[in-house]
Formats: sequence, structure tokens, C-alpha cells
Amino acid sequence: MTMRSTLFAAAALSVAVPALAQDAGQINVICSVQAEWCNMIQTVFAKTTGVKVNMSLKGSGEALAQLIAEKANPKTDVWFGGTGDPHLQAAELGLSLEYKSASLPQLHAWAQQQAQQSGYKTVGIYSGPLGFGYNTELIAKKKLPIPKSWSDLLNPAYKGEIQVANPASSGTAYTMVATLVQLMGEDKAFDYMKALHKNIGQYTRSGTGPIKAVARGETTVSISFVHDGPGEAMQGFPVATITPAEGTGAEIGSMSIIKGARNLDNAKKFYEWALTAQAQQFGAASRQFQLPSNKSTPVDPRVPDFKKIKFINYDYAKYGASTERKRLISKWEKDVNSLPR
Ligand code: G6P
Repeated sequence: MTMRSTLFAAAALSVAVPALAQDAGQINVICSVQAEWCNMIQTVFAKTTGVKVNMSLKGSGEALAQLIAEKANPKTDVWFGGTGDPHLQAAELGLSLEYKSASLPQLHAWAQQQAQQSGYKTVGIYSGPLGFGYNTELIAKKKLPIPKSWSDLLNPAYKGEIQVANPASSGTAYTMVATLVQLMGEDKAFDYMKALHKNIGQYTRSGTGPIKAVARGETTVSISFVHDGPGEAMQGFPVATITPAEGTGAEIGSMSIIKGARNLDNAKKFYEWALTAQAQQFGAASRQFQLPSNKSTPVDPRVPDFKKIKFINYDYAKYGASTERKRLISKWEKDVNSLPR
């Protein structure tokens, strides 16, 4: 998105964008949502506060790996977005700072719970359900059924037609692993993922890679967050989404201030801003349709209706625990990813 269109979108939301405020220092942000949203908040926050935002875009798993690597000498001030499990792991590993915002009561219970269970080292900024994306034209052309359940994805007719990300780099894919383990029990979930492996055309690095490939007709089906579908459809791509009949998990997209942040005052300023209803509108304004955590943020009609989705009772504390997340990812590498297809 260009600077002009970003400012236009900001203006359309009646966000005050004064002339560039005085130089107020800088902030280093790792951003784990899609680029358009990252770029928009970078521009608007800088314009409204005068704080220069150095933004680096990374998937949730990759972001955590970077924070672990720079622990002795942190270069990051805030980690914005990405699935909640690695944020919880960062909290447990002492990579993020305890910070209790006065705005917490304005947030949905699930976002506050994310803060509480991390000892206030992270907080929920959005939520969204895991499901499937499919290319409506390709599926018809190839005479494939629309997948309605996890078990449907094992249909041999989908061989090579499904993409999902790699859970080591992608929080989306780790959400899938954890969801299946909770839904089926660990042994059955790994049997399931081994069988699914035969139908996977490619494991991508980023969680949004698969639905973008679906949209562009490079693959027929993806395992994706369903809130990533409407943005592709708005660009004219033939993509639809569905959530599986057996039940599914949801992410609690999170935000953390990094322990040892060199620009701590600006980090707090950014964090407080990102929790406001006004700032949370930039998700939908950049075609990303997660459910915002601030209860006063207007909810775009394209945000998935949680009431219509069958959810598992996702145990965030358990699956965000460092040893469990590491164990499941290496088990997936060893037992699933290493198999021939
Ligand atoms: C997309 C989704 C976010 C999600 C993120 C995770 O940006 O819109 O809701 O948190 O992917 O990315 P990852 O690459 O870690 O799966």
C-alpha cells in the first residue's frame, strides 16, 4: 500500500493525522500480521506521534526464533501480532516485559486471559478461527468436493492439492497441530497428519502463503485462518472459506513488549495505541478480518461470526508452553515432514 492510500484509508476512518509531529525518537517493531496492516500502522503511528517505526515482518515462529537469538542484546522493542502460543512461550522464556495496561478492562475476556496467564507479559489484540480456504473455480473445474471436515481432507482426490504452512516458522500451522492434538488425542492426530501429508503439495514458510496460493489458482485447498479469506476475495480472487465440522481452534493474536527494549517509552506508547479501538480499525482497513480485542472497535461484517463456528476449548496455556510447543514441532518434523509423499 502506498503512503497516499494509507493516509487516505486513515482519513476515511476519521483518524486525526496531524502534520508530522516533532521528531520523537524511534521504535523497532517485529510485525507478524500481513504487510498491508504493518505498513498502515507504521505510517499512521509515525504521523500521529512523530516516532519513527522501524518495522520488520516475520512469521510468528520466525519472530520467536529471532527474539531468542537476540536475547542477550535485544534489538526489538515491540512484537506486534502473530499467533498467541509463541508469545506465551516468549513470556515463559523471559523474553518479554511485564506490563499491565490501564486499558485491559476495555478488552474481551479472551484477550485479558492471555495477559493474565502470561503474568502480563503479552496481551490479546485479535482472534480468529482456523479452517480451510478453497478456490471456487478450480474445485469446480477439477470436479473436487468442497472439504467440509478434517476427515474430508484425507480424500485421495486431493493428492497434491492442499497447502499448509510449516509449524516451525508459522503460528497458523502450529495452531493446526495443537488443534488436531486437542481434537483427536495426540496419537490419532499424528496418524491423521501423516495421512494428510500424502495430499500436501507444499508446506510454506508463512501462514498466509497457502491461501494466497489458493486465491491465485496455484493450489486448490489451504488450511488457513478463515479471516484471511475475505481480503483475497475483495481483490477479485475466487476464494471461499469454511470451518471443519468436527470443530476447530482459534488463535489469540498477541502483542508483547520486549524485555531490555532500548526504546521503552515509545514501546509503551505504541502498545497503548495498538490497544485502542481507533488503532484496531486498521486491521479491517487493510483487509484483515480478525475479531479485534477492544470491545469498542467496530466489527466489520466480513469478520467470521464466532457464534456459527464449532470451537474446541483450546488450552492456550498448555500449547503455548515452551516444552510442549518445541516437542510437538520436532515430533511433526520427525514423524510427518520427513515422510515421502
Ligand atoms: C496472518 C493472519 C494472522 C496470523 C498470522 C500468523 O497474518 O492474518 O491472524 O496471526 O498470519 O502468521 P504465521 O506466518 O506465523 O502463520
